[in-house]
Amino acid sequence: MSGPSMVSVTARGAAMSIVLLALVGHAPSARAQGRPEVWAAPERAALRPNPVVATSDAVGRGHSLFHQSCESCHGVKGRGDGSMASSLPIKPSDLSSERVQSQTDGALYWKLYAGRGMMLSTQGTMTDEQRWAVVDYIRTLAAKHP
Ligand code: HEC
Repeated sequence: MSGPSMVSVTARGAAMSIVLLALVGHAPSARAQGRPEVWAAPERAALRPNPVVATSDAVGRGHSLFHQSCESCHGVKGRGDGSMASSLPIKPSDLSSERVQSQTDGALYWKLYAGRGMMLSTQGTMTDEQRWAVVDYIRTLAAKHP
């Protein structure tokens, strides 16, 4: 009952339960229909000004961080169509959209800091300066509406 194949089946089972727990843990009613509840940043956070001026240098740094950590879900142009997007229970936000672009730098910064569900927090992976630089880069993704 305990050959190597049994071990691997058990390991796979455990991995599966972790995935299921992760999904269930983030699945209040609206999410069951694939529709996330509105995600608003706290007002105080939204009012924070961006201390990192969007020079071409800062935008460049933001771009490479985005390429490393965000593109797989949000896509090269931030449209929410990265290679991992279709395997997620919630579609990654379209960062070029009016809905996202109309949010303040402070609000976007706070979302990168806090994270929600599959959108992981960058608390342990980025410095403050890096998060603000990524926000500077997100601004360059704004869809040019005619
Ligand atoms: C594993 C996939 C994944 C990765 C990697 C990821 N995101 Fe997201 N992101 C999401 C999903 C899914 C949402 C929608 C979350 C929700 O509404 O619950 C989201 C939401 C957001 C939002 C909120 C926009 C809104 O709807 O108000 C911003 C901003 C954002 N992501 C930026 C980033 C940035 C910048 C990175 C890289 C540091 C990143 N994301 C990495 C999946 C991802």
